Amino acid sequence: MPFNGSKSEGRRSTMKVMLVGEPGEQRTQLKTVLAALIEPELEIIEGETATAANLSENVAAPPAATLVIVNGNEEAALGFLQSQALHSPRPSLLAVLTARSAGLMKRALRAGADEILFWPLDPGEATCALLKISEARWRTERREGGVVISVTSLIGGVGVTSLAGNLALALASLHQRVALVDLDLQTGGLAVFLNLDPEVTIMPLVRLDRKLDSIQLESALTKHQSGVYLLAAPKRIEEGELVSDITVGTVLDLIRQLFDYVIVDCGDHVDENGVAAWERSEHLFYVLNQTIAAARSAWRFIDLFERLDLTTLEPRFILNRYNPSHPLTEKAIEATLARPIYAKIPTDDRTFESIEMKAQDLFQLAPSSPVARAMLELAALVMPRPELAPLQETFMSRLKSAFVTHQSR
Ligand SMILES: Nc1ncnc2c1ncn2[C@@H]1O[C@H](COP(=O)(O)OP(=O)(O)OP(=O)(O)O)[C@@H](O)[C@H]1O
Ligand SMILES: [Mg+2]
Repeated sequence: MPFNGSKSEGRRSTMKVMLVGEPGEQRTQLKTVLAALIEPELEIIEGETATAANLSENVAAPPAATLVIVNGNEEAALGFLQSQALHSPRPSLLAVLTARSAGLMKRALRAGADEILFWPLDPGEATCALLKISEARWRTERREGGVVISVTSLIGGVGVTSLAGNLALALASLHQRVALVDLDLQTGGLAVFLNLDPEVTIMPLVRLDRKLDSIQLESALTKHQSGVYLLAAPKRIEEGELVSDITVGTVLDLIRQLFDYVIVDCGDHVDENGVAAWERSEHLFYVLNQTIAAARSAWRFIDLFERLDLTTLEPRFILNRYNPSHPLTEKAIEATLARPIYAKIPTDDRTFESIEMKAQDLFQLAPSSPVARAMLELAALVMPRPELAPLQETFMSRLKSAFVTHQSR
């Protein structure tokens, strides 16, 4: 499937809203304004105060928001608001008032309205009120389960796989349940990075003829001695073609239910599969190094990413193989990108060579190295506050001991 750089349809689903009020000019105007909104995309159902309660209960998916027109028959409208406010779970309730009176506003709020709008409905105000609801719902839905972190670049060999792998190891060393997903389907670098020879890969999940369940998913994972699980890339290069963005979406939606963190190696190019992962990610890390080519590619990436219109995701730039005395400085790169560098991973050829030669991971071989410390610091940045609190001590003591060991080397 060719990637065309535009947000594909249906990924952010439409939001169902119910419009409640007597038929007439006001309801028609409201419906026209709502139907013309570009964001959020709405599915509108209509009803009258006497029948709308049944309507909202009988549809398969209840509305996310209900707009109630409070006009002539104020009692019926406020009564409807009250009855809806008692439901659990209940839609967000918006009262649309035809008069700007403080008394009426108070009565509507006391009846259970979460938000007040005025007739004639202003498209800007409606967009703002409805976007707040849709974004809050989206965040709640996404937060059900672990944190998804995508790692990508537009240039090969800058350290995408190492960063994804070492971040997973760092999080696992902080007692988190971590899965790695290899979406660099042709290269399959994560298995090599972890020194694994997986018997199973993502392929059985592609060929499923029924809904993916956690048993099937678990049987496609390979466990690393660190406790990190890998969903490996296909064994044969050509099999990668069979992995679609739909598979990626289904896998990520389920795998995040099983782990605290899911880290995705998106490789060094952009395709539909990568975008499907980004759409489900809380963090997107773009890896670059101190070369003009990497800075230029990062710039091209920013341009593309803006066109994707993933409103709640902000890519973060990570400088790998960082060398403070390099002529292309961090500041110069930040100026070029007009973006800050989120984290820096120092260059450490000796440690990386030993990792490869001795088939051990960073935290076995050099847990006190500057690279390991940088990875632990990055891990701390992605850990949500409440979760971090009990770990703060472990993390700080780990950092401290790493520092002391390093000094005494
Ligand atoms: N901070 C670092 N210091 C020294 N060497 C590093 C560092 N990060 C990565 N490397 C080395 O750079 C090489 C490329 O790293 P890696 O495979 O992670 O990059 P990649 O972006 O995934 O590459 P590809 O585009 O081939 O998938 C590896 O040999 C790795 O050991
Ligand atoms: Mg790689």
